[in-house]
Amino acid sequence: MSDRDTHGLARGLTHYGDADFSLYLRRSFARSMGYSAEMLARPVVGIAQTASGFNNCHRALPELAEAVKRGVVAAGGLALEFPTVSLGEVFLHPTSLVYRNLMAMDTEEMLAAQPMDAAVLLGGCDKTVPAQLMGAASAGVPAVMLAAGPMMPASFRGERLGACTDCRRFWAQFRAGRLAREDIDAVEGSLATTAGTCAVMGTASTMAAIAEALGMSLPGTAAIPAVHADRLRAGEASGRLAVALAARPIRPSEVITAKSVENALRVLLAIGGSTNAVIHLTAIAGRLGLEVPLARLNELSDSTPVLVDLKPTGQHYMADLHAAGGIGAVMRELAGLLHLDARTVTGETLGERLAAPLPWVDRDVVRPFEDPYQPCGGLVALFGSLAPRGAVLKRSAADPALFEREGRAVVFDSLEDLAARIDAPDLDVRPDDFLVLRNAGPKSPAGMPEAGYLPIPAKLAREGVKDMVRISDARMSGTAFGTVVLHVAPEAAVGGPLALVRPGDRIRLSVRERRLDLLVDEQELARRRAAWQPPADAPRRGYRKLWFDHVLQADEGCDFDFLRGRA
Ligand code: FES
Repeated sequence: MSDRDTHGLARGLTHYGDADFSLYLRRSFARSMGYSAEMLARPVVGIAQTASGFNNCHRALPELAEAVKRGVVAAGGLALEFPTVSLGEVFLHPTSLVYRNLMAMDTEEMLAAQPMDAAVLLGGCDKTVPAQLMGAASAGVPAVMLAAGPMMPASFRGERLGACTDCRRFWAQFRAGRLAREDIDAVEGSLATTAGTCAVMGTASTMAAIAEALGMSLPGTAAIPAVHADRLRAGEASGRLAVALAARPIRPSEVITAKSVENALRVLLAIGGSTNAVIHLTAIAGRLGLEVPLARLNELSDSTPVLVDLKPTGQHYMADLHAAGGIGAVMRELAGLLHLDARTVTGETLGERLAAPLPWVDRDVVRPFEDPYQPCGGLVALFGSLAPRGAVLKRSAADPALFEREGRAVVFDSLEDLAARIDAPDLDVRPDDFLVLRNAGPKSPAGMPEAGYLPIPAKLAREGVKDMVRISDARMSGTAFGTVVLHVAPEAAVGGPLALVRPGDRIRLSVRERRLDLLVDEQELARRRAAWQPPADAPRRGYRKLWFDHVLQADEGCDFDFLRGRA
């Protein structure tokens, strides 16, 4: 009996040397969970559960899983929930990115090793959706992505606010001495007040939108708030869909294609999405042998307007986007730029998905293509002598007055160096300087943190300076804003040009020319390169060693070298 001929619990039997015995034993043990023989004969839908006491964003996933199960059972399937690694963004050291690949491996292996005909992936917080899509792509199991959904915004002393663009705004006010300690303490209790992912277009919301744009989620589901009854209905519908997928398998490789990846890039640009999504989409596509060249990002960015007025680029929150028509409204505006023949997880094409007009769209939130919020895409890639393999800038959340600049480098060698000196009264820094942080890339001990949004030095913040050019091999939260150049590749920890910058060097940024150049002559750079030493503190054991030995640079999605490409 080959695995191809089997389904449900008979799939992928445990090796005991006797297949019939293996199946008999499996059924016997499954019956110990109280299932009837009729239930155990049904197609099996695995539900990848990522609820965790260390993940506030996934607080509502147990209830969502019950809705999925309802849909599975109603459609004639057997729903079996299983846990995987969960990544709560703010609860992981050094960063959640470091563990994204671990979660992707866990998800892939558990999807492939356990007997299931299809799966529903319950994720949400920043790195969980990319990890699940990476794992599903590699496992080849038909799967539906269902995100936790965003938090509801709250209010504080008459002002609407939500995690986490407002977290940073209030913190900047506190640093600048414009907010008292008791006020920032009060803000702390008001920023994140419901289950769900960050309430703005951060990485979590961006990745949920990308999952929908790729066709891996049901239409209209990306922006439904976590606590909205519609999300439970989306759970039920996702469960039903998974049973249909068990009968007529559509594998992730049929949905995540060169065309759908390009559609996802268009949506990323149109929503003013997170810079992190460039890394994650590259990693997801890379699992199926698809490239996402940064140069192509620029081509698409020039011809894709920002359509969504949402923080950190604009004013609204994710709950407003759902009420406004959701990602479907954005995609309908973009339809002329999308590959409408891309297949989705329901079997219909994207064009079929978008054929019916939405009854109403709030044009304050989702602007028409002809009257966009910004005329061109939110993200651009920069190349030059400081970033030979590229860097990324979220221009939609940056100050255009800083886009064509030459500046003096103020260099921080590490996160620790940054923390020690950024607020020092004697720091030699002026508003027109470029702040440079290095040794914060994927192979650094810092684990590519979301630290690229360097704080404005306290003495300048007190003078009212709100933005400066900041350059690093780190990442930035999707909720942040500012003229922040990220993901410089190759990173300093592998000897990239960023490692060679000295305080006082001149750096030139030109967003118009897509350039980032270190204005130091080649002979001097060669001298510095010859003297450069790699960091000495490489991890020696466990998963952190695996990460260090195999992680790829940002332009390759920070996946492991041995996980890219089709299985
Ligand atoms: Fe989970 Fe922001 S902390 S999405």
